[in-house]
Amino acid sequence: MQTCDVVGQGPAILFVHGFPLDRWMWHPQVGALDGFLRVAPDLPGLGESPLGEGPASMASYAAALGRCLDRLHLESVVLCGLSMGGYIAFECLRQWPERIAGLALLDTRADADTEEGRRGRDRLIAEVRTRGAVAAADAMLPKLVGTTTAEAKPAWLSELRRRIERSPVEGVVAALEAIKARPDSTPLLGKIAVPTLVLVGAEDVITPPPLAEAMAGAIPGASLVVVPGAGHLPTLEQPHAVTEALQSLARRV
Ligand code: MLT
Repeated sequence: MQTCDVVGQGPAILFVHGFPLDRWMWHPQVGALDGFLRVAPDLPGLGESPLGEGPASMASYAAALGRCLDRLHLESVVLCGLSMGGYIAFECLRQWPERIAGLALLDTRADADTEEGRRGRDRLIAEVRTRGAVAAADAMLPKLVGTTTAEAKPAWLSELRRRIERSPVEGVVAALEAIKARPDSTPLLGKIAVPTLVLVGAEDVITPPPLAEAMAGAIPGASLVVVPGAGHLPTLEQPHAVTEALQSLARRV
């Protein structure tokens, strides 16, 4: 059973976190989006959720989220995915499109890893197996937040490091394998037929704004929000801007 925060009442919003984090990365939005039922699970093997059976994949994560909605008797949600959460959202569109009433793709990309990217995943997997989740923190932290956050909130960066470092090693490795093997979702973009928000931090160096612009351009009717003063984690770096953008999407659905 996945660990999951379920807060409030109203139309449901499902929050899918990125790597190597957990549901905490959505806490400002979960706390603020009154008038909606906010559902924020930890993916299998990350945060406080146990690892699932068999190898992790975007498909196994999407299936676990579908089971989470079943347990809560939710027929339809606004689906929000950040980075890896976005890769998983594409898989949810394949597995249970009828349940997705609106879509928010934050700091993510539709294409698969390149060969070079896959080799980088393998190197990080080997490092995490040897040194633990601290290797994931070392590799990701310098890229996760924007320069504005890094300069203004150094103490907060230490909190982020502490959280990444306590991630379970097997869950981190499973997520890296799943990310490495993810399919190209670009062909899906033109078929998305629900209200869609594409949001990106202006200082994101992992999935930079030009990727978000191209993705928004390929999704019929999608709106694009570029959040100033944020890198790859705008939910935490500029929480109010993200909450407002999500609220406006959820009200349109
Ligand atoms: C994430 O934030 O989920 C990761 O940056 C995804 C990735 O490394 O591709």
